[in-house]
Amino acid sequence: MAPIVSVQSLTKRYDSGFEALTDVSLDIREGEILALLGPNGAGKTTLISTICGITNPTSGRIEVGGHDTIEEFRAARSLIGLVPQEINLEPFEKVINSVRFSRGLFGQAPNDAYLDEVLARLSLTDKRDQKIVTLSGGMKRRVLIAKALSHEPRVLFLDEPTAGVDVELRRDMWDTVAELKASGVTIILTTHYIEEAEAIADRIAVINKGRILLVQDKEALMAEMGRKELRIELTEPVAEVPAALAEYDLERSEDGTALTYCYDTHAESTGITRLLTDLRGAGLHLRDLQTRQSSLEEIFVGLVTEPA
Ligand SMILES: Nc1ncnc2c1ncn2[C@@H]1O[C@H](COP(=O)(O)OP(=O)(O)OP(=O)(O)O)[C@@H](O)[C@H]1O
Ligand SMILES: [Mg+2]
Repeated sequence: MAPIVSVQSLTKRYDSGFEALTDVSLDIREGEILALLGPNGAGKTTLISTICGITNPTSGRIEVGGHDTIEEFRAARSLIGLVPQEINLEPFEKVINSVRFSRGLFGQAPNDAYLDEVLARLSLTDKRDQKIVTLSGGMKRRVLIAKALSHEPRVLFLDEPTAGVDVELRRDMWDTVAELKASGVTIILTTHYIEEAEAIADRIAVINKGRILLVQDKEALMAEMGRKELRIELTEPVAEVPAALAEYDLERSEDGTALTYCYDTHAESTGITRLLTDLRGAGLHLRDLQTRQSSLEEIFVGLVTEPA
């Protein structure tokens, strides 16, 4: 199936000369939830803004629903709903009017039945005729989502949907995103929170300093997280891993005083018992054993931290 959004070799240099995106390529599958995970200044908002046509690419090509975002801007943009990072709403407007206005901007015929459905889906029905100024921050964020959905887009971009939101509301937002997905909308959201990506994404893309470092199914990443390391400290350093232990793929520390064994916690047998027997057989003596589990956090930090 053709991707609903296709970004090819996108580079974005701002007028200041700063290159915020470098050779970014990314395909988004229809119906998925993709989390764009990266630290402050990574280029997440820039990427979303460029896909949505708010800023122009310096080079590269973007298609949404098969439409080039520059040559066929209106067709591409009509398929997109954008919930911006900053809350910018008309404080004295009623919720329903604000949502109607957004729909009108896209040249769609009025359709209150649809809009009321959107409000209901976002638990905003009882706020329908209230002024935005009277709503809490979390409710305002929902109004932003309602506005972004007002013209019936197929792709929804959520830029930091839960920044500054308390734990309970964050879970609410996750539920809302899951319901939107179930209704057939493709969702791309940005976040700093690893646990957020872990909780709701189908795929995770890690971005740092304007480059995509990794795009992977969450399940595959989780499987990687099921990997554990056993660090075996030896009483005497070894110059190399003994040939008799080759099958274990041990990694020798630089000074030779430790060997590291990777195993899968989900596997039926970890092989540890046999390894310990074979170590003894190879004449090695243990000083200590430590286990360590890799986490998504570690994978992430490892990716975005520069080697010293
Ligand atoms: N209009 C602009 N002109 C020049 N540089 C900009 C402009 N907008 C953003 N930048 C720079 O581009 C880089 C990426 O910014 P961007 O807002 O895309 O990051 P982000 O990943 O969304 O960060 P955050 O998590 O803080 O929202 C930053 O270094 C930022 O200072
Ligand atoms: Mg941002």
